[in-house]
Amino acid sequence: LANPWFWFAAGYLAGSVPFGLLLTFLAGKGDVRKVGSGNIGTTNVLRAAGKGTAALTLLFDAAKGGVIVWLGSRYALGGDILGGMGAFLGHCFPIFLLFRGGKGVATYLGIALALSPAAGLAFAAVWLLTAFLVRLSSLAGLLASIAAPIVPLVQGRWDAGLLLAGMTAIVIAKHEANIGRLIRGEEPKIGARDEGTG
Ligand code: G3P
Repeated sequence: LANPWFWFAAGYLAGSVPFGLLLTFLAGKGDVRKVGSGNIGTTNVLRAAGKGTAALTLLFDAAKGGVIVWLGSRYALGGDILGGMGAFLGHCFPIFLLFRGGKGVATYLGIALALSPAAGLAFAAVWLLTAFLVRLSSLAGLLASIAAPIVPLVQGRWDAGLLLAGMTAIVIAKHEANIGRLIRGEEPKIGARDEGTG
């Protein structure tokens, strides 16, 4: 447990658990990957199964990142950083779904909160403000993940800052289809039921 790479592996396995897929099945709403954007995250679970299941998905997808960071920080020097990295990679590229995972936003929130509460709160504030103003979940996630690394980088916490910045690069890459829809003005608003794909 004192080896930080243990936390990378544990994080990868925990992060690979696709809570959105499991919870949507358990709610009797079938395969979330066949609905809306096809993603397994909170936003698409909201389309497939409604608010309660979406809230649970957000909670569990965030917790799997946050708990690993917290445990890693207790047991191993660097266990928080490597644990968070593993959990994020697990969520985005899960072994249990042949590496076709989520877009990382909820897991990012959990990891950021556990690594640096200020970065996590900045993430949450930017997400909420954007979602409130324009009702576009993908844009909210993109802007929140661009804002979050600034906090540890300004504080000179290079390990946390570089981890979050790397995670931001993955979030942006995962939102390629969303970015195309945002530019074309075709991205569905939060709460809309009739969706495009991608
Ligand atoms: O958190 C994912 C969100 O940013 C976009 O989800 O399903 O609209 O592609 P979705």
